[in-house]
Amino acid sequence: MWDVLKVRALVREEGLKQSMRVFNWKELKILHGTGEYLMFDNRNKRNLTRRKALSLLGVGAGSIAVQAAFPTRFAIGGDAKIKIGTLLPYSGTYTWLGESITNSFEQALSSHGGKLGGRNFELIKVDSEAKPPKAAGLTNKLIDQEKVDFIVGPVHSGVAMAMTKIAREENMMTVIPNAGANQVTGPLCSPNVFRTSFSNWQPGHPMGKVLLEEGKNTAVLCYWSYGAGKQSAEGFKDSFVQGGGKVLKEIGIPFPKVEFQAALTEIAAIKPDAVYVFFAGAGAVKFVKDWAAAGLKDKIELVGPGFLTEGVTQAQGDAAEGIRTTLHYADTLDNAANRKFRAAYKRAFGKEADVYGVQGFDAGQLIRAGVDSVRGDVSAQYDMIAAMERAVIDSPRGKWVFSPAHNPVQNFYLREVRGGVNEVVRIAMENLADPARGCRA
Ligand code: PHB
Repeated sequence: MWDVLKVRALVREEGLKQSMRVFNWKELKILHGTGEYLMFDNRNKRNLTRRKALSLLGVGAGSIAVQAAFPTRFAIGGDAKIKIGTLLPYSGTYTWLGESITNSFEQALSSHGGKLGGRNFELIKVDSEAKPPKAAGLTNKLIDQEKVDFIVGPVHSGVAMAMTKIAREENMMTVIPNAGANQVTGPLCSPNVFRTSFSNWQPGHPMGKVLLEEGKNTAVLCYWSYGAGKQSAEGFKDSFVQGGGKVLKEIGIPFPKVEFQAALTEIAAIKPDAVYVFFAGAGAVKFVKDWAAAGLKDKIELVGPGFLTEGVTQAQGDAAEGIRTTLHYADTLDNAANRKFRAAYKRAFGKEADVYGVQGFDAGQLIRAGVDSVRGDVSAQYDMIAAMERAVIDSPRGKWVFSPAHNPVQNFYLREVRGGVNEVVRIAMENLADPARGCRA
């Protein structure tokens, strides 16, 4: 049967990118299985019938030419490896995060005899360096040169923006195991793009509520002033300011700079009830240590999304003790999947697992659910996506499902660092979904 997804690939092969790139998924959903499809020419804002589409592509109305160009999986054979490109930071401030994701992603894939849908797979690892200007080139390289079947990445929201725009246009199956850019599951939402982590709005949102419940009504916000930090602050304000709290000052620090002295001096003078910060990786280590060294630790409450203390408590030492954060994971979550995951991680890598690993692990579980459902035939994209949308991920964070925009609906926990461990205090918000503003899924 003629398959619109194959035509999409033909569009790519033939370089007919300008005339037809993005199709309206709703139309496809409605008509899928009837043998006829309507496609939407996004650029010219008009529907294309199958015949018109084929004539635009320069092939006859018959399906022979299309089928000849696209051998079925039986012709491909079971030997061809599924190719997965990881676009993650393996150098720079976010190195720890990229490595943690990769470790757990590989662990998830290597279960079940190391096969996906009965096929072998290979990873092509690309260092994003967490540098947005490099993202488009690296994404294109994975698609055009490496011809990957999936992209898994990135960590940094700016990299995610550039990558997702291309993934959308090229209809590239993509799983985001960290970057929280709200747009990815907002205005840029797309059938082929899934996220197994969070939107930037999510982890900050419960913290505003927690502070207000404790009678803490004034806050200073301090964050890396790129997409993730700004959107995290917005998520916090959506509950804190809406509930009557007052933000006395917002201090932005350019990413990935770690010169915090001027900000700390200003905060000490303002004396708010709490300081909400967004820093992660090496930047989080430095901020928490500087905070303690400046003598602020017992004077003002330091809070944030849990990235502040994820994977870094050993390096932060005593300075991290007692810090409370909100996140969709905590080391001590008491469920079977978490116990198994943490023990396996420690055995394999000789260190404690963290939220980044959890997100990578779930990216692996998600890809397995999709590829297994089509028994390795990744060209059956419609069915694969449908299976991924239906997946209930048995995660170390607890079971979760996707929102219609392909972002996790999940619990957010209030945690506290005790003895270097991010312990659960309580659920701060249950089954919290991102508002997905602007997504027309
Ligand atoms: C992001 O850029 O989206 C980002 C980076 C690191 C984190 C969380 C979010 O820990």
